[in-house]
Amino acid sequence: MQLPKLSPLQSRLLAFAITTCLVVVLWICFQPNYFAYAAEIPVPPEVVQPSQFAASIPPASPDEPPIEIRDGLEEEENVDALYAPLFAYFDRSLVGRQEDALKPSELENNQMKPMEIAPNNTKTFIFKKNQLGQRSVLEEVSIARGLEDALNGSSDSDGDGESDLVKRQAQSRLWISANTCRQPTPTVKLVTDPVPQLTLWVWTSTSSAPAVPSSSGRPVGNSTFDGGHANYTLATNEDVYIAVTAPALTQGWTGSWSFEIAVSTDQGYYHNYDNSTNFIYMVDTDSDSTLFITHNMTDFNDTAKVDKWIDEHKGDNMPFDIYAFPDDAWSPMMGLERSYCGLKTQFDSSNNLSVTTSITTQFGQGLPKGMFNVQGLKTSMKYTGFLVLNGTSNMTIDGTTTNGGGRVFQSFQWRTKADDTCQVIFGLQECTTVAYAVPSSPLWKNNDTGLISFYDDLATKYMSAFRNSLAQVACDTAGTAQYSLARNCTDCEADYKSWLCSVLIPRCEDWTANATYLHPRNINTPFANGSLPAVDGLSFFPSNSFDGPDSDSTAAENATTGYNASLRTRTAYNQSRIPAIDTTIAPGPYKELLPCEDLCFDIVRSCPAQLGFACPEPPMRALSYGRRDPYGRELRCNYPGAVVDLTVDRGAGGQHLARLSTVVLAAALAAAWGAV
Ligand SMILES: *[C@@H]1O[C@H](CO)[C@@H](O)[C@H](O)[C@H]1NC(C)=O
Ligand SMILES: *[C@@H]1O[C@H](CO)[C@@H](O)[C@H](O)[C@H]1NC(C)=O
Ligand SMILES: *[C@@H]1O[C@H](CO)[C@@H](O)[C@H](O)[C@H]1NC(C)=O
Ligand SMILES: *[C@@H]1O[C@H](CO)[C@@H](O)[C@H](O)[C@H]1NC(C)=O
Ligand SMILES: *[C@@H]1O[C@H](CO)[C@@H](O)[C@H](O)[C@H]1NC(C)=O
Ligand SMILES: *[C@@H]1O[C@H](CO)[C@@H](O)[C@H](O)[C@H]1NC(C)=O
Ligand SMILES: *[C@@H]1O[C@H](CO)[C@@H](O)[C@H](O)[C@H]1NC(C)=O
Ligand SMILES: *[C@@H]1O[C@H](CO)[C@@H](O)[C@H](O)[C@H]1NC(C)=O
Ligand SMILES: *[C@@H]1O[C@H](CO)[C@@H](O)[C@H](O)[C@H]1NC(C)=O
Ligand SMILES: *[C@@H]1O[C@H](CO)[C@@H](O)[C@H](O)[C@H]1NC(C)=O
Ligand SMILES: *[C@@H]1O[C@H](CO)[C@@H](O)[C@H](O)[C@H]1NC(C)=O
Ligand SMILES: *[C@@H]1O[C@H](CO)[C@@H](O)[C@H](O)[C@H]1NC(C)=O
Repeated sequence: MQLPKLSPLQSRLLAFAITTCLVVVLWICFQPNYFAYAAEIPVPPEVVQPSQFAASIPPASPDEPPIEIRDGLEEEENVDALYAPLFAYFDRSLVGRQEDALKPSELENNQMKPMEIAPNNTKTFIFKKNQLGQRSVLEEVSIARGLEDALNGSSDSDGDGESDLVKRQAQSRLWISANTCRQPTPTVKLVTDPVPQLTLWVWTSTSSAPAVPSSSGRPVGNSTFDGGHANYTLATNEDVYIAVTAPALTQGWTGSWSFEIAVSTDQGYYHNYDNSTNFIYMVDTDSDSTLFITHNMTDFNDTAKVDKWIDEHKGDNMPFDIYAFPDDAWSPMMGLERSYCGLKTQFDSSNNLSVTTSITTQFGQGLPKGMFNVQGLKTSMKYTGFLVLNGTSNMTIDGTTTNGGGRVFQSFQWRTKADDTCQVIFGLQECTTVAYAVPSSPLWKNNDTGLISFYDDLATKYMSAFRNSLAQVACDTAGTAQYSLARNCTDCEADYKSWLCSVLIPRCEDWTANATYLHPRNINTPFANGSLPAVDGLSFFPSNSFDGPDSDSTAAENATTGYNASLRTRTAYNQSRIPAIDTTIAPGPYKELLPCEDLCFDIVRSCPAQLGFACPEPPMRALSYGRRDPYGRELRCNYPGAVVDLTVDRGAGGQHLARLSTVVLAAALAAAWGAV
């Protein structure tokens, strides 16, 4: 039930009515017959603080000690004693209106109730015991009865009283949760205080008249909202009273709150916050968009079942969403970081970002994963993102099914790239696993399709040449005639493709990125402002160029002496690995995340020796290929399906990097390129 909203005139009328009631009540209190009672109670209960109450009752006779609160049972009785006097003096008809104001709204199992609350105010709710999990109570009773019968060896027990007793002792568990959907806003520019948060109070009582928390004395529990989320769980067989209190606003804040509250008896909260499951990965970012994927959304990869699942969950039924906010001194999501409705409301109203959501099976083992392309981002800006799961989809993650109110996962942060030199592409036909930032230029900034087809066409051309070469090797011969017992031409082709896509389509980073494992390209190309990139002071480890194994042997000799003077003359630095990139795309100076060396090892292992693949030996190898971070914390080289775990610093370790890589990555050497 929702309390009716009162117009100012109505509220004044209500206030007037209440005052009148109070006057009448006072008048009744001072009737002579009441003075008789007053003589027996030296201190009127209504002026006594709850904690003083028990002690203030005079002993009935001088021999009896004063009543004290000693244990739970007496406490319960005293709760009654506390509540009763609050209303005992009021005739029901007189206080009807006042009771209405205090009357708790009734909550039903799994039914979320939205509510508005003003500062320095309280809203009360009741969850009646008849809503408690009836079935489980009865089951517990029958189990208890069964045990009892077994023990007594008697099968007939009249037992109405007994079963009542058992019933009363059986308790059910309740999960109470709330989310703040709207909160006060700051009136000052420089916000230093945390956003004021609501508080959730829970107590059980046999009293029919709940009081506000401050006068009730003993809530069984309280929980201050954290990031707009509060939860509380308890086992009970009583009516449960719940109150949400709003603090008075301090200077610098204005407005009020709205929140959702729900009670569930279904083994979990209605609103959920999950600060430990890592379910989202960043694929890559450029200057105005970022690509994310989720972890596996199913645990089956049977094609027919997956297709059916995708059909049921695509479009508007996609259960996941991403909400992103720029990191400013003040962001409207602050104080709502754990609230689904809060984040959703703020994202919809305060952002001009657009998020394109889809489901993909391209990131390994045919398992469906959610994919998000966040667009409209600002250059070189830090963002905070939130992954949320809509509760109506019944999705189970790590064995936990999310109830109706959904789930908010821990937040993550990332920074967009500074230059337009790199651009995120995905959805290629040939190189299906490519989904990262590639060399681009302002000309191509708004032409994703053109950029994708440029790289894809290039890959298709090289792949068909390779297939021709492979066809000349005795692939189709069976058994012992094959070149290897462990690998065949299917493996060779797959590994070659992984290698080719990683080598042909460079993974691009900003020129200003300074990680040591990044390889500079196009160092003689001026920036947009005409200046040449500075190479002085940078001790590049020379990388080989794409056009043959011999071209860099002198560089290797000179690698240890590390001279910079001739860097600008070296093809490894002054152009892209693939000349076509420079002629067609014409990116500015950029840095490349080199392909991983294991791509190379795989191709050598999988392919027939006739094709002449061989990996360069160290130190030359380090010139062409990157090496994976042994701790898996950083992405130090590129491989198909590589993703960035943005929560790695907070989470437990970094094995996540490898978790999504399903294709074993292959690479080959420059000599092989010549052979193709
Ligand atoms: C909060 O409300 C109480 C009465 O309900 C009032 O006495 C108190 O002054 C209020 N506090 C503020 C800061 O407004
Ligand atoms: C709120 O709960 C905490 C423990 O969770 C307790 O220490 C505190 O006293 C409670 N506050 C009130 C006013 O009951
Ligand atoms: C319950 O609240 C705590 C504290 O805010 C939070 O850490 C925890 O994740 C919440 N649990 C669920 C299931 O939302
Ligand atoms: C999650 O929240 C709990 C309690 O709120 C805290 O103890 C724990 O450290 C948090 N975990 C992470 C990964 O932040
Ligand atoms: C399904 O997963 C298994 C390993 O769990 C893998 O071998 C198989 O290739 C996958 N199937 C598809 C269609 O991706
Ligand atoms: C969850 O999904 C349902 C159905 O697709 C939709 O009606 C509902 O608004 C969604 N909830 C939120 C919080 O977006
Ligand atoms: C979720 O589960 C409930 C009850 O089990 C069912 O009524 C509802 O249709 C399910 N929703 C979806 C989207 O499967
Ligand atoms: C995108 O690039 C392709 C290939 O260069 C070109 O044909 C097409 O006209 C471009 N589209 C736009 C809108 O610039
Ligand atoms: C290569 O081996 C795989 C199993 O390892 C098999 O499925 C595939 O058909 C074989 N390819 C050829 C061309 O024999
Ligand atoms: C890389 O750049 C960042 C800032 O862009 C700087 O804080 C860091 O010290 C630099 N690292 C190295 C090795 O130069
Ligand atoms: C390598 O370094 C030596 C001196 O250390 C220099 O004479 C030689 O020209 C360098 N080679 C190239 C290709 O620059
Ligand atoms: C999720 O997918 C990855 C590969 O993408 C796989 O290694 C992992 O086992 C999968 N997890 C589950 C729970 O199926």
